[in-house]
Amino acid sequence: MAIASTPKLLLTDIVSNVNYVPSSYIRPVSDRPDLFGVEDSRPPSIPVIDLDEISGPNRSKVVKEIGFACKSNGFFQIKNHGVPEKLISEILRVAKEFFNLPESERMKNYSNNPLKTTRLSTSFNVSAEKISNWRDFLRLHCYPLEDFVHEWPSNPSDFREVVGEYCKKVRELTLILLEAISESLGLEKDYIEKALGKQAQHMAMNYYPRCPQPELTFGLPGHKDPNAITILLQDEVAGLQVLRNGKWVAVKPIPNAFVINIGDQIQVLSNDRYKSVLHRAVVNSHKERISVPTFYCPSPEAVIKPPEALTDGENPAVYKSFTYAEYYSKFWSRGLQSPSCLDLFRNI
Ligand code: OGA
Ligand code: NI
Repeated sequence: MAIASTPKLLLTDIVSNVNYVPSSYIRPVSDRPDLFGVEDSRPPSIPVIDLDEISGPNRSKVVKEIGFACKSNGFFQIKNHGVPEKLISEILRVAKEFFNLPESERMKNYSNNPLKTTRLSTSFNVSAEKISNWRDFLRLHCYPLEDFVHEWPSNPSDFREVVGEYCKKVRELTLILLEAISESLGLEKDYIEKALGKQAQHMAMNYYPRCPQPELTFGLPGHKDPNAITILLQDEVAGLQVLRNGKWVAVKPIPNAFVINIGDQIQVLSNDRYKSVLHRAVVNSHKERISVPTFYCPSPEAVIKPPEALTDGENPAVYKSFTYAEYYSKFWSRGLQSPSCLDLFRNI
């Protein structure tokens, strides 16, 4: 008797034995990664900022560097950020172990509903997209920690402990960055933190399996992050690319550094002085890749609008005011086919 096999939902399980890219992952010719046309990142394509002196007498110099990076690139890397190296290697280990668990164990967390606060899914937004992306991901809400930690996977056995500790440390770092960014805009130090209301913190563990034909598909197509600021940890495998002066530039991993990028909400809170920039992830045929972005967000009821201090007769408010809940639901209803959601909230 033939045993009916359950359809596979996760990319990892679909492709574990194929040497071609299934048709549902193949992009039209005009929308492929052009893996050889990308600029290399030597010298570093995006600024690398040393945070060591952020609380010392040279604070204003570091704040200026951050402000300049936000304005000119929307992306920068940071080192000496205070998150222990051991914790960084632990979180990458735990993520890898999670994605290597047997399918039945991983699938306990599967859901396609973007409103679920803990979920494993695939691609980007399966209900809104026509072409799939070469990625599986686990997405976790993680602030306040005690509201969510009980929902998280308990396998690997130290998952909750390691991820919980990582989330706390990354939050501390994020608040330091938000202060520096507020200051660099000439706002009160706590302006952005307050504007985000009670705040929220989401995290993703992105798993990009090896891909037999990486020139045909994306790990993640070009998009802008809808949140306030993203703190991305990537393992040693390259894949992140940032759009700069109309060209895609590869951001080579620096061990133990974070990649920081401005999300749509800080673009609004800076009244367009700082830009949320298009970025994407490509895949490769040699090695699986893991990245762990932390998305720091306003709480759903927070009202986001350009600050009065940054608007005047010559610089009117570029955006209407909106709640983050409105923004977020628009973002998830669209897939990634139109890369910016900001245009829907523009005054001018
Ligand atoms: C994201 C993202 C980039 C990467 O998850 O929003 O941009 O390198 N990830 O995984
Ligand atoms: Ni992103």
